[in-house]
Amino acid sequence: MKQQNDEFVNNLKDTFMRALYRGPDDEIPSAVWDTIEILYKKYPMKPFIFEKTLLSPSEKKNNLKPNLPKKFTAQEIVHWIKVRPKKKQTWFLVIHLPPGIEYSEFKSREGHFATAVGGSAEIERNGEAVYMTISNISLEKEYSYSFDPTPYLKTMKLPILIGQGVNGPIVQDLTVIYSLLIVGLRGKGKSTAMHQIIYTLLLLNKITGKDYVQVAIIGPKNKEFEYFEDYGATFVHEELDYLKLLFLIDKADKERKNKLGKCRDILEYNSIKGNSMPYAVLLVDEVDMVGEDKYCAELLLKSVKKYRSQGIYCISATQRPSAKAWGNNNLFTEYKSQFEARIAFRMADRINSQMILESDKAAYIPKTPGRAIYKYDTEEEVQTPYFPTENKHPKLFNQLMSQLPKIPLPYTDIEGEVYEYEPNYPRPRTQTRSQGSGSSRSIKMLKSGTNPFA
Ligand SMILES: Nc1ncnc2c1ncn2[C@@H]1O[C@H](COP(=O)(O)OP(=O)(O)OP(=O)(O)O)[C@@H](O)[C@H]1O
Ligand SMILES: [Mg+2]
Repeated sequence: MKQQNDEFVNNLKDTFMRALYRGPDDEIPSAVWDTIEILYKKYPMKPFIFEKTLLSPSEKKNNLKPNLPKKFTAQEIVHWIKVRPKKKQTWFLVIHLPPGIEYSEFKSREGHFATAVGGSAEIERNGEAVYMTISNISLEKEYSYSFDPTPYLKTMKLPILIGQGVNGPIVQDLTVIYSLLIVGLRGKGKSTAMHQIIYTLLLLNKITGKDYVQVAIIGPKNKEFEYFEDYGATFVHEELDYLKLLFLIDKADKERKNKLGKCRDILEYNSIKGNSMPYAVLLVDEVDMVGEDKYCAELLLKSVKKYRSQGIYCISATQRPSAKAWGNNNLFTEYKSQFEARIAFRMADRINSQMILESDKAAYIPKTPGRAIYKYDTEEEVQTPYFPTENKHPKLFNQLMSQLPKIPLPYTDIEGEVYEYEPNYPRPRTQTRSQGSGSSRSIKMLKSGTNPFA
């Protein structure tokens, strides 16, 4: 009994001392310290934190007020010390690993550190240094789309919102990342991410008051993106139509190249006074289906490899990032390798996660739709914004769409232009249909003789 009591008193003292020593300001680095002490108890030299930086500001002070009952027992004090309100913070730590502790071994402990702070922990290596980003801020299950790109236009050409990270919203310039691959299981938010990005791009035309960015969408599965046609985007849905569109974009790429003259790329061209070439974005949903056609696969590959200097950028989404997605030719692997920036929603297992990320993370993130890992320089957990649909949230949807000006386009047929440009265009199949009978309004609606990206 006495021994039990001693143990309890010692535990109490220990917990109390730790809480005092920590204080609310550096709770997280101290928890990391404690965890290292426990995990590497038997090692003569332990990993050592030699630099710590507070990344995100803490929340209001009064959140930390203890909620103690008037009378309390010793156990209640211990409990309170453990679960008491804590400052929400994100810390960046530089850690030295002593000889005998491998980086990969230390990285495999991420989960222990995350549990110790009740949040997330990421470990990465940069040369000899090991960095840890650790946070007890947890992401909400849903963030509604609300994004004003105006302030970002001061430093970015095509700002797009990726999602909410632990340090706030993540906004990227598409002219810097060039392309974006969106992957994940069914119903996790791939198309929703594309809807909000398209909306933001179209909004840029309104904000800048000119033809600033052109948008073309390939959506093989259904017509969920068709409504963007009313706001100036090109949308195609049928196989023959998206082949036509890909040919026309290729043609536009050549025309743009000529126009650039001696300029290295569109950014240099547009920096010259008086020049204003619109940027262009090609978005392909279910890209595995689109690439089943070998003409499309080749053009898609070209689009990510060659078009960026001419200001044409690509965003693609798929459920199936496997090497065999486009058949046995490895074309899809080559295509995938062109995407440095990736959004990985939840994946079925570790192997699938590693097809897209350098880690298992996409297999372990919560099942919540919209929760993803964004990979560019590093891998970071994000919650992508929810974009309303007309059926589910008509009021919100109409409110957003009323911000965009409607753009009517006259009907015309462009099939002749495609034949002229590409003699290899698969005639036998088009001949089964009368000219100009394409299913897509966009293809029929293009202005006479004009190319969507010219
Ligand atoms: N960011 C989000 N926040 C909250 N809910 C979301 C989010 N994204 C998607 N959802 C929910 O999940 C549903 C499916 O989303 P979405 O159609 O974007 O999935 P998907 O990944 O494109 O699926 P599929 O592979 O079947 O096309 C949406 O209707 C919505 O209810
Ligand atoms: Mg989808």
